[in-house]
Amino acid sequence: MAAPQWIDVSELSFEVLLLLEDPHLHWFPRDWPGDELGVALRHNRSVWDSFRVRLRGEGAWLDELVARAPQVDPEGLRRCEVAVMRAVCDWIVYVHRPEAYDAQPFLRWDDAELLTLVDPRDKVVVDVGSGTGRLLEPLIAEVASAFAVEPIRHLRSYLKRKFAEHAHKLNVLDGFITDLPLPASSCDIVLAGHVVGDDPERELSELERVARPGGRVVLCPGNNDVDDGVHEVIASCGYEWSVFEEPGDGLKRKYWKPT
Ligand SMILES: C[S@@+](CC[C@H](N)C(=O)[O-])C[C@H]1O[C@@H](n2cnc3c(N)ncnc32)[C@H](O)[C@@H]1O
Repeated sequence: MAAPQWIDVSELSFEVLLLLEDPHLHWFPRDWPGDELGVALRHNRSVWDSFRVRLRGEGAWLDELVARAPQVDPEGLRRCEVAVMRAVCDWIVYVHRPEAYDAQPFLRWDDAELLTLVDPRDKVVVDVGSGTGRLLEPLIAEVASAFAVEPIRHLRSYLKRKFAEHAHKLNVLDGFITDLPLPASSCDIVLAGHVVGDDPERELSELERVARPGGRVVLCPGNNDVDDGVHEVIASCGYEWSVFEEPGDGLKRKYWKPT
C-alpha cells in the first residue's frame, strides 16, 4: 500500500490505529505484504484485540500474520510500527487529524473547474465520498439542499462542524458509493471527487441511479491524467472529460455526464 504522507506518523503512538473505523478494518488487504503488520500487532495487543473483536470472526488472517512474525529488537519494532502507520497514513489522518487533509495544497484547485460544469442555484446536490467537503465548499451557499455521503464517522462529524452554518440544508449521511442511502432520481447534481476507481462500472451506475433525469454527474477530479483502465470505463460510459491542475499534485481529469 502506498499512501500519501499528509502527516509525519513517526511521531505517533501505534495505538492511534485504535481510532480506525470498521470500514478501514475491512479495507486492509488480506494479503498484507511483509512482516511489519504482524510484528507491530504482536507487540500492541490492544490494537490486535480491537481489530479481531471488530472484524467479528473475519480476523484469522491477522492471527496468521502475528503467528509468522519474526522476533525483533525495540528499534526493529518501531520500524515496523512506523511502516504500518505510513501504509495507512491517509486513514489515520481521516480519524485523527482531518484538518491536515483539509490543509493540503492539492485541494486548492480553482473552484471554477466545478462551477463551469454545474449551476448550484436552488439545486439538490449530493457529494459522495465527501471527506472534508472540498466539493461542497463552492456550492453550499447556493444550493437548495445538500447531502454529504461519507462512510467514516469521524469525517461525518468534521463535516457537520465545518458546515455548521448550513446545517439547515445539509444532511450528512453514512454510506458507500456502491450503495447510496438515497432514492433513485433524487438529486440534480451528483458529485464525487477522488473516490471513483475501485469498481468503476458499479460506482458510476449507482451515482447515475440517484441523478434526476436532466441532472448531472461530475467526477472532480475523477482520475489522474492517464489512459488507464479506470479512464477507459468512465469514457466508455459516455462521460466527457478535460484536464486541470491540482496544485502540487499535477494534472487530473474531471468527468461529467448529463443524465
Ligand atoms: C481522497 S478522499 C476525497 C475526499 C473529497 N471528495 C475530496 O475530493 O477531497 C476519499 C474519501 O472517500 C471516502 N471513501 C472511501 N471509500 C469509499 C466508498 N467505497 N464509498 C464512499 N466513500 C468512500 C473516504 O473515507 C474519503 O473520505
